[in-house]
Amino acid sequence: MKKSSILIAGGGSTYTAGIVVMLLEAMEEFPVRKIKFYDNDEERQRKVAEACAIIIKERAPEVEFGYTTDPKEAFSDVDFVMAQLRVGKYAMREQDEKIPLKHGVVGQETCGPGGIAYGLRSIGPIIEMVDYMEKYSPDAWMLNYSNPAAIVAEGTRRLRPNSRIINICDMPICLEDIMARVIGLKNRKDMEVRYYGLNHFGWWTNIQDHAGNDLMPKIKAHIAKQGYTEDTQAGQHKEASWLEAMRAGKELLEIEPKYLSNTYLKYYLMADETVLHSDKNYTRANEIIDGREKDVFEECQRIVSNQTAKDTSIHSSEHASFIVDLAKALTFNTKERMLLITQNNGAIENFDSEAMVEIPCIVGKNGFEPLSMGKIPTFQKGLMEQQIASEKLAVEGYIEGSYQKVWQAITMNKTVPSAKVAKDILDDLIEANKEFWPVLK
Ligand code: NAD
Ligand code: G6P
Ligand code: MN
Repeated sequence: MKKSSILIAGGGSTYTAGIVVMLLEAMEEFPVRKIKFYDNDEERQRKVAEACAIIIKERAPEVEFGYTTDPKEAFSDVDFVMAQLRVGKYAMREQDEKIPLKHGVVGQETCGPGGIAYGLRSIGPIIEMVDYMEKYSPDAWMLNYSNPAAIVAEGTRRLRPNSRIINICDMPICLEDIMARVIGLKNRKDMEVRYYGLNHFGWWTNIQDHAGNDLMPKIKAHIAKQGYTEDTQAGQHKEASWLEAMRAGKELLEIEPKYLSNTYLKYYLMADETVLHSDKNYTRANEIIDGREKDVFEECQRIVSNQTAKDTSIHSSEHASFIVDLAKALTFNTKERMLLITQNNGAIENFDSEAMVEIPCIVGKNGFEPLSMGKIPTFQKGLMEQQIASEKLAVEGYIEGSYQKVWQAITMNKTVPSAKVAKDILDDLIEANKEFWPVLK
């Protein structure tokens, strides 16, 4: 059985240790011979790596492990790059959220002007990594979680159209996991879904069990009562803002009763309410800095001090299982059906064939094949057309260094009330992103 070599890029990420644990748990179906980390923040990565070295030594000492900030060392002899960069780290995420909010607009990591700002920071470093991978391990695949996935995907489509990068998101599978639990199934893999949209902007049109029974009515009945919240919160996120997004599933079902909506649609369809409930001095970035980031780094520190991870709270999650399943499907031709972000090419019949859409694909050794989604209704089509135009203009603005296009991208975004507000936000974002953005003229 083939044994793979994995590079986790963004080795200092809060998700890295969870992915390592998952890789070690999946060893029988997806054997691994080497795990490496790559990051441009040596200090941050070292803290995670020293803890992971102990986890690996205790659970699978035969796996070779290393970490580096050197691209050649990192990207050589690699089968998969599992990428999860946060360009500008939490300090810049805070700006992405707080600058729009200051102007009365949704402040979110991947949606609205904050998402556009993050996109303009991320495209360059992701392209740089794609180039390292092509230089040092040309047969490898990059499985990319780095956000904002929609804009990163459009950026790589435009700038590296033939690269072996697959952009993914864990939100649909996290919501599917909740749906499965609330109707009493063991896990999401007991369901077969049809879903389409853009990243963080999509709908489930059909969910059935393996016998073909329609599960939508039961799931809808739960969502109509309490959104995607559960009576026992088993999921990975528990913060106030996250639960509010989960509850919004209820209103989203009133807006679109035929389908099940991705909770990220809340930021577009319930923008005013979202702003009203936001604290402009303490946003999700602050919740994460005081929560997940603190917890992960404290736990890594504890493992290193004790020189054992036998009692660690670090565990694998749906997030980690999804990326490992994808690597497994590409290696062993499992033909698993997975939601990926890919160029439409007619899969959604009445939608821009060049748009990067999120749809089910069959994944095997030679890559993936998207499933046909047919024609979509006017409401979804209209919303998606506006959003994809915003994303495309942002990427064109990045490539051309065009102030006008980035201004239009923000103006076009449904979260933004006018061109004047868009300009005010853009000017503040330019100031905050000087170190990261191309000069816009
Ligand atoms: P984090 O800040 O903890 O980790 C990101 C790491 O990337 C940091 O260690 C940072 O130093 C590193 N980094 C930044 N720029 C880099 C560069 N140019 N080269 C190399 N390394 C670089 O962030 P996190 O909260 O763990 O999230 C990581 C990423 O994963 C984010 O982009 C997040 O949005 C994304 N994410 C995406 C999904 C999805 O559904 N697509 C799900 C979860 C997380
Ligand atoms: C979901 C989304 C991701 C996002 C993540 C974490 O899983 O799909 O794209 O990065 O949430 O967000 P957080 O706010 O917890 O950092
Ligand atoms: Mn996502």
